[in-house]
Amino acid sequence: MAPHAEEPKPDSGVDLIQHDGSKYGDWRDDFHRDGSAIVKGVITPERAEYYKKKQIEWLQSFKRGFDPNDESTWTQDHLPVSFKGGMYFAYSSTHEKFVWEARTEPKVIDTFSKLWGTEELLCSFDGMNITLPRQKDLTWSPWPHTDQSPHRKGMQCVQGLLNYQPNGPNDGGLILMKGSSKLFDEFFRENREQADHDDKPPEDENFKDLFIFKEEDVKWFEERGCKLEKICLEPGDLVLWDSRTMHYACFPQGDKIRHVQYICMTPAKFAKKEDYELKAKMFNTWQGTTHWPHCNIRVQGPPMRNGQVCSQNRSEPLEKPLITDRLLQLAGAKAY
Ligand SMILES: [Fe+2]
Repeated sequence: MAPHAEEPKPDSGVDLIQHDGSKYGDWRDDFHRDGSAIVKGVITPERAEYYKKKQIEWLQSFKRGFDPNDESTWTQDHLPVSFKGGMYFAYSSTHEKFVWEARTEPKVIDTFSKLWGTEELLCSFDGMNITLPRQKDLTWSPWPHTDQSPHRKGMQCVQGLLNYQPNGPNDGGLILMKGSSKLFDEFFRENREQADHDDKPPEDENFKDLFIFKEEDVKWFEERGCKLEKICLEPGDLVLWDSRTMHYACFPQGDKIRHVQYICMTPAKFAKKEDYELKAKMFNTWQGTTHWPHCNIRVQGPPMRNGQVCSQNRSEPLEKPLITDRLLQLAGAKAY
């Protein structure tokens, strides 16, 4: 068989979706052109409302005095520990019943199935984002980044977020540079250093699949016709992007709380045996992962409050998910 006719293998530098340029007449055309797409109405507004309510209840379950109607309680002291002021990965939250319900919404799975051309998928155990506008004790600076290491070439992962709240130009949310994924391999042909940002991962650190860009790097992409854009969304929209796409989140300027669930699925056949086993172990112990479903599966560490593990850390979700064969397959805990 000629090399190009073989099925692409992860980390061989080849795009994992070999798109021949044919048109679908739906969001897949956007995705293959820009490296990102908005899939409209993947869940109903009613379902989005349900998930919003569950997220708020989850914040309140820590009984630290957080009140969604009283802004004076919108501080770190009243909330469980988050990353970047709103991303929740810890406390086994990535396995809460409502989180798995979102991942297994029929059209969520269907979207990833259509993208990859298979129903045999693995799902990431990544977090949700609940960002409160005007939270006083937060410092915020842009961190344009990709969640794919420069050492991985080609299209290797597609990540996504399911949006629950109307999200306009002033609301906190995703800023994304359309088309930047197509320039990733060219950009990293030269040796590039990460920006000296607070979140820069230590060398040889856990988060290998993260690169934070410098201002001059952003310009490099802009000179090639790309532009950072705020993505506006309605409740129920799912955004997908090639993990080589430059992105970050802006802090909410409006009145609305940001409510999002990160969801990412890739074909199960991409996972190595040891990654499959590790994933099953993470699931069985209710631990979270990175955005990557089939590899880059890393322990996220406990939530730290004032230099100590948060005394309210949890080793299991508050409400366990309803275990079905489909869920176990997506979790990597049951073979296809
Ligand atoms: Fe990211």
